[in-house]
Order: sequence, then structure tokens, then C-alpha cells
Amino acid sequence: MSIARRRVAILISGRGSNMASLIEAARDPTYPAAITLVLSNRPDAAGLARAAEAGIATQVVDHTTFLDRVAFDAAIGRSLGDHAIDLVCLAGFMRIFTDAFVTGWQGRMLNIHPSLLPAFKGLHPHAQALAAGVRIHGCTVHYVVPELDSGPIVAQAAVPVMAGDDEAALAGRVLAEEHRLYPLGLRLVAEGAARLEAGRTVLTSGARTALGLGV
Ligand code: GRF
Repeated sequence: MSIARRRVAILISGRGSNMASLIEAARDPTYPAAITLVLSNRPDAAGLARAAEAGIATQVVDHTTFLDRVAFDAAIGRSLGDHAIDLVCLAGFMRIFTDAFVTGWQGRMLNIHPSLLPAFKGLHPHAQALAAGVRIHGCTVHYVVPELDSGPIVAQAAVPVMAGDDEAALAGRVLAEEHRLYPLGLRLVAEGAARLEAGRTVLTSGARTALGLGV
């Protein structure tokens, strides 16, 4: 018996390579999520064309046309409601939502951040990692909470920092892992193998295995 796939909106602001990796994963009919909507706050986001090519509904909600964050968030909320969205994936989405909006989507909104959180939150995480001299860097899929890049962690992947790395080289190595990790993280959440309980992410033993964590 197949269960209904969760309806997912991906929110982007730019090129949308993580979006593309989620769309690709969801082409598999056994994947527990269907990408139903791609929404951008920027009309010029390159990812919009990639989504449209894949036959996915796209929408622009241009933040510059709203008086304030409350009005912008309300417009996004209406759009998610119109498409009966169950789960939201932020993928290079460069706007910060109001606390009330985030709280309304608690446990149903994911983000990917290109660092091993809680290290290197915010902008330029690869430059931060190089400046700190860490040997291991990576990426994190996490639930979104009002505080930036601080929500309960669903999945992480690590990469080495190589001698001679610059920001672009390190970013590229991390991005390849992001493209593997985000589809896995969304799968676990969509199928209920990862869930938010009292502010912590609880994983089933199957989810731990899928993440390479042992049981
Ligand atoms: C990714 O590195 C993501 O982790 C970060 O912004 C970048 C977006 O890239 N939040 P893309 O638009 O998914 O290609």
C-alpha cells in the first residue's frame, strides 16, 4: 500500500542547485515527497527556469513590493495554503521570516546550511571555516526555528578542508554533499523517520542507518 506523498514547496532566491537535487530525488515515485511548488522572493532567480523546465509550478513573491515582513510572510503563507503544502524546504532562500511565521511551520520547515552547525552560522560560512582553520567542514539539514541557523539538526555531512583551499573550492566540495544530504533529510522527515519532539530531532533506527550513524 502506498501512502500519500507529502506536498513540498521549495523556497529559493538564486541558482537553485539544491532545489534541483530535491526535484531529481522526487522523480522517483517511491520518494515520500512531491515537489509541488517552487517559490522565489526574487524575480531573477535562475532556479525558477530550472523548476519550470521540470514541470513544477513556480511563483514569485517579490519582497520589495511589500510594506513589511508581516505582509510578505502573509503572502507566502497564502501561496503555501493555496497549494496545500505540507512541508517547506528553504534552499538558498535569503529572507528571514517573522518569528510568528516560523512558529506556525514548526516541525514542517527545513533548511540547509553549508557548515557543520552550530559552527559558522549566517553569511560566508566557508570563509568563516577557512579563517578558523578547521580541518573538517560540511553541511547541515535542520528544522527552522526563529533564531537563524539554530534549529534542531536532522542530518549532517562532513568534508575535509584541503591544503590550498579557497572559498570557492571548499564551497564546491560542500555543495556536492548538500546535493546528497538534502534529499535524504527531506525523505526522512517526509516519511516520519525523523520528527521533531520537544525541540529535539528524534530519528528511528532506520533513519540512523540511512545517515550512516549506526543503530
Ligand atoms: C547553498 O550552499 C545552501 O546551503 C546555502 O545557499 C546555497 C544555495 O545554493 N543556504 P543553491 O541555490 O541551492 O545552488
